[in-house]
Amino acid sequence: MCGIFGYVGPGDAVSIVINGLKKLEYRGYDSAGIAGVKNGQLKYAKEVGKLSVLEKEVQDQGLRFDIAIGHTRWATHGVPTKINAHPHLDTNHTLAVVHNGIIENHESLRSALKQKGVKFVSDTDTEVVAHLIASFYQGDLLEAFRQTVGLLKGAFAIAVVHKDFPDRILVTANQCPLVVGVGNNEAFIASDSHALAKHTREVFFISDAEIAVVTADKVEVFDAKHEPISKELMTLAYEAESIEKGSYAHFTLKEIHEQPQAIRNAMGSRFVEEYGSVTFEELKFDINDLIGVQRILILGCGSSYHAGLLGSYMLEDLARIPTQVEIASEFRYRNPIVKSGTLIIAISQSGETADTIAAVKEVRAKGTKVLAICNVQGSTLTRESDGCIFLRAGPEIGVCSTKGFTTQVVVLALLTVLLARMRHMSKQEGQDFLHHLQKLPDQVQQVLNNSAQFEKLAKKYANYDSAFFIGRRYMFPTSLEGALKLKEISYINSSGYAAGEMKHGPIALLNPKCPVFALCANKTTFSKLESNLREVKSRGSPLVAIAEEGLNHLGGIPDDIIRVPETIDELEPILVTVATQLLAYYIANERGADIDQPRNLAKSVTVE
Ligand code: AGP
Repeated sequence: MCGIFGYVGPGDAVSIVINGLKKLEYRGYDSAGIAGVKNGQLKYAKEVGKLSVLEKEVQDQGLRFDIAIGHTRWATHGVPTKINAHPHLDTNHTLAVVHNGIIENHESLRSALKQKGVKFVSDTDTEVVAHLIASFYQGDLLEAFRQTVGLLKGAFAIAVVHKDFPDRILVTANQCPLVVGVGNNEAFIASDSHALAKHTREVFFISDAEIAVVTADKVEVFDAKHEPISKELMTLAYEAESIEKGSYAHFTLKEIHEQPQAIRNAMGSRFVEEYGSVTFEELKFDINDLIGVQRILILGCGSSYHAGLLGSYMLEDLARIPTQVEIASEFRYRNPIVKSGTLIIAISQSGETADTIAAVKEVRAKGTKVLAICNVQGSTLTRESDGCIFLRAGPEIGVCSTKGFTTQVVVLALLTVLLARMRHMSKQEGQDFLHHLQKLPDQVQQVLNNSAQFEKLAKKYANYDSAFFIGRRYMFPTSLEGALKLKEISYINSSGYAAGEMKHGPIALLNPKCPVFALCANKTTFSKLESNLREVKSRGSPLVAIAEEGLNHLGGIPDDIIRVPETIDELEPILVTVATQLLAYYIANERGADIDQPRNLAKSVTVE
């Protein structure tokens, strides 16, 4: 998604903003730009391509600013060209605007402005904002901005600078994240808090329809009625270095290797070993709301949806609560049937996925309580929910979800124990489950220690154009996740399938050029899966089995076997997923793919 970064203060605004945009690169973009004010003059630069292209243009122009706003654009309205890149200016170049999101009524606003003789130069919805502010401006920028924002419909975060006001950035947001960072006689704005961590950890988020006037020594915030309001600063929970690659070639590899610690953090201080149960200190749900839960509906997209599927298996198996999982982008357009006693669980690593947030708003409108499972403090989803359990995974910068997914599954396992112990699970059963969880980080480390095997296998399986991941029970959602990982970072057309479904069609596709990764680590269904291995092999597909250590009877069927530590079926998905992450990573690396920022993808999909 688009990224916004702005700076006002005594520092070098150009380099601070450019470096801020670099922290937002992981969101995905195709062009970038910067605008600012110096000596009463507004200047800008914008280029298609990576930030390095913009940096060169800025240097060639010798741009210096007292105040600046920057933008990385992920094209929605208008193809990625220099003229469509942000910032967008008014006709007389008195002001510049950057924007994330979509202004849904831009066409009608554009035609109204054209009737007044305004000439548009780009195909974007954003340019409308620049011309509107200019049309209302009679010396009071805040008033002109207010009148403009009052006309806009849609989900947007906007920042504007004006040549007459070199000391302030005006911002607003509606269903789109925008965070303000407060420093020592300097201030920052950004699309997400990761980009601010190097400068300040004292931040607040702009809520819907609020407008802020950001200057170096103070930030004034006004609500939708234009009344001044005070915002409570929150302190970010992580340090700046957590968003550096360190010695790793990619953020994705770093975050794969962070999983033992991320899982420890997700479990830390949440075990109640004496009672074989769990506690979530941040969960503000009334205990009776949880005891009374008769049905659970889980909402999510992509990897979060896959985590939700695994959560539903655990909740039904262990807590005996009927649980339904829905793809949020589908669910949001249904008229959901929600009964009393239903708990909604919304899963989102970023907390900014538009489809998940829209689905949550729909079910909340029907009166249900929503529990968010999320990784980002202050994100939109956490503010749209009745309670939140944080993953504590630390910033996830790589576009593909790795530690986000595994910590989501861990949190869902913990939530299952909490709810199961309120029902039929005995203290001993709860303690046994917690014991298996406790071993998980070291077991994940064992898989990671085996990275050389994955690097070697990758050379053998990197040059296929399609692949299947198959599995049964807990290995079915794990297959979906494994296929998604390979798909999104290596561009191999890989599909995840329930192994039992292969004979209902997909088996027609098997051939020596279509490898199958069979996820065997599910004890209760292994004997059935063994027959699938034979099916696959007899069609000539190269076959890789990912199986638990000690599970010897694979009968020499697979061409290659990857071993993962043995644990209970409910937790094997985490170990097998780390294996499929490493496989996807090294295959993508073999193919020279842009692993941290795969083509066409964004880290958080804040538009429909
Ligand atoms: C997963 O690797 C992808 N990046 C994508 O499917 C992601 O899981 C999905 O967009 C949901 O993101 P969220 O968890 O931030 O809501």
